[in-house]
Amino acid sequence: MHLTLDLESEAAMDNILEVKDLRVSFKTFFGEVEAVRGVSFNVPRSKTVAIVGESGCGKSVTANSIMKLLPDPPAFYKGGSILFEGEDIVKKTDKEMRNIRGKSISMVFQDPMTSLNPTMKVGKQIMEGLLKHENISKEEAKKRAIEILKMVSVPKAETRIDQYPHEFSGGMRQRVMIAIAMVMNPKLMIADEPTTALDVTVQAQILDLMKKLQNEFGMSIILITHDLGVVADMSNMVEVMYAGQIMEEGTTDDIFYNTKHPYTRKLLASLPRLDMDRNNKLQAIHGTPPDLYIPPKGCPFYERCDEAMVVCKDHPAPISEHGKGHLCRCWLYDENMPKEGTWNL
Ligand SMILES: Nc1ncnc2c1ncn2[C@@H]1O[C@H](COP(=O)(O)OP(=O)(O)OP(=O)(O)O)[C@@H](O)[C@H]1O
Ligand SMILES: [Mg+2]
Repeated sequence: MHLTLDLESEAAMDNILEVKDLRVSFKTFFGEVEAVRGVSFNVPRSKTVAIVGESGCGKSVTANSIMKLLPDPPAFYKGGSILFEGEDIVKKTDKEMRNIRGKSISMVFQDPMTSLNPTMKVGKQIMEGLLKHENISKEEAKKRAIEILKMVSVPKAETRIDQYPHEFSGGMRQRVMIAIAMVMNPKLMIADEPTTALDVTVQAQILDLMKKLQNEFGMSIILITHDLGVVADMSNMVEVMYAGQIMEEGTTDDIFYNTKHPYTRKLLASLPRLDMDRNNKLQAIHGTPPDLYIPPKGCPFYERCDEAMVVCKDHPAPISEHGKGHLCRCWLYDENMPKEGTWNL
């Protein structure tokens, strides 16, 4: 008994973040949108966890819940917890969150132009957090701002610091965003589609930079993307999300080479691969995700799934384990499921 407890607490220490059965909804004129419907996952220290899934599946709502950045109203936490170093973010006050944001957890958004202040020099924007959270002089803060700009490979940092965001290219602006997110050496960085707006070469540079900074500072990263190609290169663990739920979770190798969920298979088939025959066509996933005003009773992927069975329609799928930490929410792997017959559609 003791051994189990010790092992559990040891495992808990290894996770910087533990999201447990998180439920987040929006109250709208037309009714409640159940955007996040019982999401659970862990982020181990110094590792990268990717959250992937099609548009509207709840990736950003999950990320913004961790930062407590959702507008309330219309958003509200319906249940679950978000333990950051053992303390529940859901219960934190606005004042407590202001201390956590930037300092312990920071965020990089998709579009730097909407998150950078266009009327403030970039240096000042980098220094803002330092001056607020750390008891240092303006000169010291400026020195640190130049250092971090150099670290994210912005050339001529000493002069660039006095320029405004519009004087930077898209890729350089994203570096500035990462500099702001990194300057206080956070324990967790959440990057929500950090490279989607950039061309492929710049995208690769930014991802390399994040990896380099992670190796140097040991921070954990939550990387949100709809691009499984980015995931392969960057992450240790993958959460495949659909209609507000995690459908499959595992190491990056589990997800790519021992794929279990039909949705993950479809996502992978829609991705170009170097080892693919040139005559093979990429397959789009037909249909659209379900309406989250009235979420389906059973598996939300049911209507688009080639392997759907009768049971999938009205009964939530059970979660099965396929090796340590490899979880899949699908009826296909239920041990009592007959392989053929009336269950099939
Ligand atoms: N302010 C809001 N009011 C009502 N519904 C919202 C609001 N913000 C998000 N939603 C809904 O929550 C669901 C999840 O949205 P979310 O932004 O998390 O998707 P996403 O996975 O990040 O998609 P994308 O890849 O397009 O960024 C969607 O159905 C969306 O319509
Ligand atoms: Mg999003």
